[in-house]
Amino acid sequence: MAELIDRFGRKVTYLRISITDRCDLRCQYCMAEEMTFLPRAQILTLEEIHTLARVFVDLGVRKIRVTGGEPLVRRGAVELVENLGGLPLDELVMTTNGTRLRDHAARLAAAGVRRINISLDSLKPERFRRLTRVGVLQPVLAGIDAAVKAGFERIKLNTVVMKGFNHDEVVDLARFAVDKGLDISFIEEMPLGEIGGHDRLESFYSSDRVREDLDRVFDLRAVSHRTGGPSRYWQVAGTCTRIGFISPHSHNFCADCNRVRLTVEGRLLLCLGNEHSVDLKRVLRRWPGDEDRLRKTIVEAMAIKPERHHFDLREQPVILRHMSVTGG
Ligand code: GTP
Ligand code: 5AD
Ligand code: SF4
Repeated sequence: MAELIDRFGRKVTYLRISITDRCDLRCQYCMAEEMTFLPRAQILTLEEIHTLARVFVDLGVRKIRVTGGEPLVRRGAVELVENLGGLPLDELVMTTNGTRLRDHAARLAAAGVRRINISLDSLKPERFRRLTRVGVLQPVLAGIDAAVKAGFERIKLNTVVMKGFNHDEVVDLARFAVDKGLDISFIEEMPLGEIGGHDRLESFYSSDRVREDLDRVFDLRAVSHRTGGPSRYWQVAGTCTRIGFISPHSHNFCADCNRVRLTVEGRLLLCLGNEHSVDLKRVLRRWPGDEDRLRKTIVEAMAIKPERHHFDLREQPVILRHMSVTGG
């Protein structure tokens, strides 16, 4: 059976699918205030997304994460997830901002989503609004509670830590995770797209500093647990909570990379921090039904998967696409 292996011997078993570039929030680190989104004709239909997912599974992908923008703003998102739930995967997971989770958590869990990641950068309503430019905290908290009730095996919060915005809240956020029995990852901001509003170098707050802040309050024990993602985890002693650190600047993790990304435009992106991509939508639409050609195109794309990203907060972003195009 064909497998996806790149020039550096890394096996790709994880596909992240962005099902929309749209979002109901405008997080300061992710988007500019004014954004132009893709017209409908340019985006993959839900059927096309499902076809591609199936082909990737044929090629050895065992984990799919559905992302956005905000995946749950796309009509039919839950039905798509239900259909993906029928593929032979080890894991079907989603990353969401939580604003609409209250309405959908139970169905997502029933569709076979075992783990869900929810972005949460502040527990203070005013600050949450400032960080997301337009967001309201309360529905997100209700969404988190609905996820707990829906019975996902694990729920992870994602916090992008920014000095001067929310760095003083990491202990409170960790305590919130402990109280609710959730995991939490603290993330260093990555320079994707022009976002306006703040200087990413000035707001950089390293994972090591977050760790020092947490160490004053919590007893963190190293664990070997890995999700196949970039987080390195520590267990809060005496609780079920794991705290993860995603540190693209201070601790590069590209050597273990096992993932590729599909954008809603149908571009297969070989790395989050590089522009190398292959246009799968073109193949899908020019040769409908020709799955052998799709498979071949995807296998060949592995030859251009870059070795690593070269993020540099001192420079202007070299990656012009926003994080909302890839869902992280
Ligand atoms: P699991 O490991 O499956 O739990 O998920 P995750 O933490 O990798 O995924 P999630 O969607 O929650 O993303 C959390 C953060 O990790 C986001 O800021 C992503 O941009 C970042 N991230 C995920 N994969 C990569 C990667 O390959 N490279 C870099 N630099 N960042 C990544
Ligand atoms: N740097 C780091 N993380 C980001 N996210 C969005 N934009 C950025 C960025 N520039 C995170 C969100 C979400 C995940 C998918 O990506 O907080 O949790
Ligand atoms: Fe939307 Fe997620 Fe980007 Fe925030 S980080 S604007 S929630 S896509």
